[in-house]
Amino acid sequence: MRVGILTGGGDAPGLNNVIRGVVTRGINAYKYEFVGFKDGWKGPLEGLTRPVTLSDVAHINDEGGTILGSSRTNPLKIENGVARIEENLKKLNVDALVAIGGEDTLGVATQLHKHDFKVIGVPKTIDNDLSNTDYTFGFQTSVAIATEAVDRLHTTARSHHRVLVVEVMGRHAGWIALETGMAGDAAVTLIPEEKYDINEVAKWVKQRFERDQYAIVVVAEGALSTEGDLVTKDSTLDAFGHVKLSGVGEALAKRLEELTKIESRSVVLGHLQRGGSPVAFDRNLGNRLGLAAADALNDGAFGQMVALHGTEIVRVALESATGVLKTVPSKRYLEAKAFFGA
Ligand code: F6P
Repeated sequence: MRVGILTGGGDAPGLNNVIRGVVTRGINAYKYEFVGFKDGWKGPLEGLTRPVTLSDVAHINDEGGTILGSSRTNPLKIENGVARIEENLKKLNVDALVAIGGEDTLGVATQLHKHDFKVIGVPKTIDNDLSNTDYTFGFQTSVAIATEAVDRLHTTARSHHRVLVVEVMGRHAGWIALETGMAGDAAVTLIPEEKYDINEVAKWVKQRFERDQYAIVVVAEGALSTEGDLVTKDSTLDAFGHVKLSGVGEALAKRLEELTKIESRSVVLGHLQRGGSPVAFDRNLGNRLGLAAADALNDGAFGQMVALHGTEIVRVALESATGVLKTVPSKRYLEAKAFFGA
């Protein structure tokens, strides 16, 4: 069987580990041949390929990014997009496709499956917001990077007696903020799922400041205040219709300085959270998902996604990952809240 493989959407540490898993098992156990599609859905759309052999995946287990490249190309928004993909797959004699991606990439994979494409999905995103999988790979690495950044910010905030507001990624889910804020001992953590009252935030900050003479606030890029709308610096949309988030940290620092009269600054961690080597958890999760995806191909389990349930890798329907965003339950936020201001 000739198998196409692609990685789409924002990159996440662990992508190369999945590629390694699929290719190693696919070649060694099932004698598959692999066609790497470059830059997400742009690859099959424009026929952009590269070979992926055992030697190509031999030294990528500690490498961030994706050897295939990625993009946010949406074939469903391009005229005859699906027909062009179909044509190119036929031309290249590709029998089945492994799509590694988040909500958008898997959403396209779901649609292609409905057009009788043989597709297997692998869930990816640092945001951890895909349903029907306990964790997505990339998330643990982002939390580790963000926590290290917060640890470093503690010492400079303490030295200058400042409030430092740290803006983290996560789009409309607060997982990265929640886990970073708790691990990094933030005075307050703000997530999109729970609208914040700026006066309450100022109160927690002042409480922590009284004790420590500095405070760290972690805010998710999609956090919302009871006072207004989503803060965005750039209102342009990507191919999937998502607005580019960022700016809430700066706005929040300004409001906090006005209310508390304490010097407040902001730091945006941005793409640092996605760059570099994956932590061991993401490497192993990626490898295991990759092996399972090759097994799913062999079993003809098309239209399925491999997922983590507890400690086991299981198969679930592709569309069950993308229908509903997996957000932070209020119970989890209450746990974090126990430390606010304290
Ligand atoms: O979905 C992953 C993510 O990193 C989000 O957390 C963030 O909002 C977005 O991608 C950033 O996308 P881009 O790479 O297009 O800046």
